[in-house]
Amino acid sequence: MANKLEDIKIAPDSIVHHPKSGTYEPDDWQSETTSIATDLYKGFMENGRRYQTLRSSEYFSPADEQQFETYEVGHFAALLMNSERANPLYCAPVQNPRHVLDIGTGQGAWAIDIADMFPNAVVRGVDLFPPPNTWIPPNCLFEVDDVLQRWTWREKFDLIHLRHGIGAFTPDEWEYLYKQCYDNLEPGGWFEQIEMDIRCECDDGSIPPESVLLTWGPRFFAAGKKLGKPLDITKTMRSFIETAGFVDIHEETKKWPIGPWPRDKSLKAADLVNIQHWLDGMEGYSMYLLTKYGDPTPWSKDEVLVYVAQMRKALKNPRMHAYQRAKRIWAKKPLSDGFTCEGRP
Ligand SMILES: C[S@@+](CC[C@H](N)C(=O)[O-])C[C@H]1O[C@@H](n2cnc3c(N)ncnc32)[C@H](O)[C@@H]1O
Repeated sequence: MANKLEDIKIAPDSIVHHPKSGTYEPDDWQSETTSIATDLYKGFMENGRRYQTLRSSEYFSPADEQQFETYEVGHFAALLMNSERANPLYCAPVQNPRHVLDIGTGQGAWAIDIADMFPNAVVRGVDLFPPPNTWIPPNCLFEVDDVLQRWTWREKFDLIHLRHGIGAFTPDEWEYLYKQCYDNLEPGGWFEQIEMDIRCECDDGSIPPESVLLTWGPRFFAAGKKLGKPLDITKTMRSFIETAGFVDIHEETKKWPIGPWPRDKSLKAADLVNIQHWLDGMEGYSMYLLTKYGDPTPWSKDEVLVYVAQMRKALKNPRMHAYQRAKRIWAKKPLSDGFTCEGRP
């Protein structure tokens, strides 16, 4: 679980910040990386939430205790929704990776689980904000960096993972990022991404057409469009992955129920955790976008809070059988290729 900011203990060798944006104190003379300065931790506050300051381009999701707890719940939801698999953490056929990268690691739970699973691997989690972990396995390294900067890792990766990158990048930036992933994988290495469709759907007409639940997806698609970072990533991710040069592309879409309404009780825990992810996360996921890009004009903080309260009430209504779709794609870098990285857009 995430801890209070003042409780965070940084293992000096476990979290590093590459000196690119000038928001660090160059006090580590022993390596090319530096320790994290307190101004990076402070971020900026808006509407009661804290946001990252490493990247000047907007990123809508807060970097604060509440949001890290949301990411933790989202991690458990993803594990439980895949609990029928021997390995619920990823699907790519990677057996004993030596080098693994988790892009936009957030709270870092996936990277930590992978580091525990493969004690001989070096697992890197990279994000714009340091994760608040008090214990990190020795083979797990958290790095504060912007993945749209040129990558400086010397090793090539056997597995690169990205979960919930929705809304972080413009289409050009996505294209660049997939190419970076491609170029920084070992030949035969795998890339895997899992993204959520943010629309609430149902198959039995139990959500009435006037329900607030049906407004969530379209409202945020519109906000993402105004921001220039589309939120309909589940529609576009495959073609980006193909364009980057990946082969052997596997795609899986699952319906993730929101709440414990399905008859199939085997997934009951997963459904309960998924609704908790929504209940905990909606305020953080919506506050920035709606107060900046709400329709027809930017909303006030109170309007967002009222909307989120309406959504919470509707999601908890057991008569409405809502689910969302989750798309996972895993794809391989061929053993030999003719592609090169074209540089930053
Ligand atoms: C929605 S969170 C998902 C966190 C984690 N992957 C998970 O599944 O719980 C997306 C993360 O991507 C990070 N992110 C966004 N843009 C980034 C960038 N340019 N470079 C590195 N991380 C970035 C954000 O800071 C945020 O922590």
